[in-house]
Formats: sequence, C-alpha cells, structure tokens
Amino acid sequence: MRFAVRYYTKTGNTKRLAEAVAKELGVEAKPISDPINEPVDILFLGNSYYAFSIDPEVRSFVASLDKNKVGKIVNFGSAAMLKSTYKKVKAEADKIGIPMDNREFHCKGEFKGIHKGKPDAEDLKAASEFAKQFK
Ligand SMILES: Cc1cc2nc3c(=O)[nH]c(=O)nc-3n(C[C@H](O)[C@H](O)[C@H](O)COP(=O)(O)O)c2cc1C
Repeated sequence: MRFAVRYYTKTGNTKRLAEAVAKELGVEAKPISDPINEPVDILFLGNSYYAFSIDPEVRSFVASLDKNKVGKIVNFGSAAMLKSTYKKVKAEADKIGIPMDNREFHCKGEFKGIHKGKPDAEDLKAASEFAKQFK
C-alpha cells in the first residue's frame, strides 16, 4: 500500500495527529501546501472546523487532486464542538470523483482553553491505532 499524509492546521493540533498517523504508516506528515506528485492508494487528510466549516485551503487542496493519482481519501481531525468534517470533505471529493473511506478518526481539539491539552497522548495513540488498520 502506498500512503500519503497531508494536513491543514491553524494551531498545531492536526499536525500532531498527522505525525502520529504518518509514523504508524512509515511516511512523512506534510502540509497541504505540498502537492501529491506520486500516485498513492490512500491519502490521509487531516483537517478541522473553523467557524463551522473546513478552511478554503482544504477545499482547494482537494479540488487540486488528480483522481488518477489518489485511490481514496481517509479523513481525520479534531474540533472543539462539532463532530466531524467528513461530509464537508466528501462534498469536495465527490466533485472530482475520489472516493472517501467511510472510516475516519475524530477527537476533541483544544480551542481557547476548552479541551485543554487535546489531542492528548491517548488521542495520538488512538490515531495511530486507527491508521494501523489500513496497513
Ligand atoms: C479560528 C478558529 C475557529 C474555530 N471554529 C470552530 C467551530 O466552528 N467549531 C468547532 O467545533 N471548533 C472550532 N474551532 C476549534 C478547532 O476545530 C480545534 O481547535 C482544532 O483542534 C484545531 O485544529 P488545528 O490546531 O489543527 O487548527 C475553531 C478554531 C479556530 C482556531
């Protein structure tokens, strides 16, 4: 299996999750500014909610993907209140015809003093366990 891990972060939480996922898969976690040049079977895409939506940069990144180079997308991330960005990311993936795996990883993420320390060590462990099932 060929894997890639990309993330978008504003305060570092998604980067930490991405690093846990990437370490498990034996690849490097990279920001979405780094394009997918080599074909991959699974792209793990880390992202979060900001003001009730995903960041426009995440939308643009998904729109830029080549369906001949990305087999499917696995969503992961955190948020303070909302549960999952899955539907938002899938709406973008659907436009370009890249399937989304129905499994995803989501946990609480610290925001302005709420959920302090999250994702914590347990969340990072759970994220790497999540990634393991795809190997
Ligand atoms: C500008 C901003 C807006 C946010 N808006 C929301 C929101 O609407 N709903 C929510 O559940 N969390 C919201 N959050 C919390 C983030 O989703 C959460 O802190 C997440 O862990 C951030 O990941 P990051 O550190 O990788 O950017 C917001 C965070 C920021 C910085």
